[in-house]
Amino acid sequence: MVNLPPAKHNHHILNFPEDFLWGAATSAHQVEGNNVNNQWWNWEQNLPEQYRSGETADQYHRFKEDFDLAKEFGHNAHRLSIEWSRIEPFEGKFDQFEIDHYREVFKALRQRGMKIMLTLHHFTDPLWITKIGGWQNGKTPFYFNRFVSRVVKEYKEYIDLWITINEPGIYTWGGYLDGRFPPGQKSIWKALLVTLNLAAAHRKAYKTIHKIIPSAKVGMAQNVVSFGAQQSHSILQHVLVWLHDIAYNHFFYILTPHAHDFLGLNYYFHERIGVLHGRKLPQLLDASLTKKDVSDMGWELYPEGIFDALRDLAGFKLPIYITENGLASTNDDRRCRFLISYLKEIYHAIESGVDVKGYFHWSLTDNFEWADGFKPRFGLIGIDYNTKQRIPRLSAQVYKSVIKHNGIPHHLMRFIGHTVNAKEVLEKMKT
Ligand code: FCB
Repeated sequence: MVNLPPAKHNHHILNFPEDFLWGAATSAHQVEGNNVNNQWWNWEQNLPEQYRSGETADQYHRFKEDFDLAKEFGHNAHRLSIEWSRIEPFEGKFDQFEIDHYREVFKALRQRGMKIMLTLHHFTDPLWITKIGGWQNGKTPFYFNRFVSRVVKEYKEYIDLWITINEPGIYTWGGYLDGRFPPGQKSIWKALLVTLNLAAAHRKAYKTIHKIIPSAKVGMAQNVVSFGAQQSHSILQHVLVWLHDIAYNHFFYILTPHAHDFLGLNYYFHERIGVLHGRKLPQLLDASLTKKDVSDMGWELYPEGIFDALRDLAGFKLPIYITENGLASTNDDRRCRFLISYLKEIYHAIESGVDVKGYFHWSLTDNFEWADGFKPRFGLIGIDYNTKQRIPRLSAQVYKSVIKHNGIPHHLMRFIGHTVNAKEVLEKMKT
């Protein structure tokens, strides 16, 4: 008889590491409502109603209700952002009422046993910053740093993880290259200048936070794209993949060396580089051309891409948090499948040695999706925007089951590769 070594794992569950953080992510402007004092609000006022944030999910008033739901679904952590334009509505004038408001928000999370990851800049700038030229102005990193210093001193006892800036690449792309975000410009030079100032702000904020809390854990949330060559034998396509990876995923890290205690990974995009019929040179291919599985926003679904992105970032030898990952879909069965397929890839990355410490699903509730307005539905919890009623989706139950097991129990694996009805799966779990 062959003596097999004892099984290392419980094969009924794909286990995640102990103390893994499970939660959801949001940002102030997308969920709070009436953030009237920032550049996004200003920009929205010229657009049709569906593209104006208005009251959005009204989380500014309903945060306790939302955090109760997060707790009920087992979340042990939450990522949210603080709105600079509320805290400092005029240059150097800090608003005590708003400072107290956010203290209540953080207390509410703590009372529900959740760790807090706080983002200090998530796409919005106070209008007074916009008036001086926004992030094109070399003084903006200084002003941001003063705001950061105040926030850290106020809330240091509540916050576990600090994110300085959310997706500097998307902020710059949207505002200065593609023009779908304010200030709607298209200039490579301005984009470069803004990137340099954001990097300076990150470096300064990193130092400031550590000065106030020497043991603080500070990082940023980087939108990482997994790139792939369509033809494995094409050296040119591989070179282009490499160039895109450096320019898109690594550039901001190159500008901010030794200023990260962990890496924050926002993962949504997989891009293929290949040659279109009738063309000679390779280019980025539009997912809709290949009729691949895409979200309601046309973003290709490619779970293996998060494995590749994690393996790529593992080279930095820092702990990694998945700070955002989610699906825009009105079909919640797809969200269940999305959740399990992406988490399974994260599991494989961890097994291969990547130090992943937490997962924050985008998003807790439906919310205002920037230039795409209210149509995309990203929430584990749906929102009826007329009544503001919270309507938990079955994907929130599926996620709850994952959290309860601290891993993926075998019966949830049937979401992968099949058209599965979440209701049936959840009912079977009860029997
Ligand atoms: C990310 C943003 C986040 C949300 C998701 C869908 O790029 O950080 O605010 O809009 O996309």
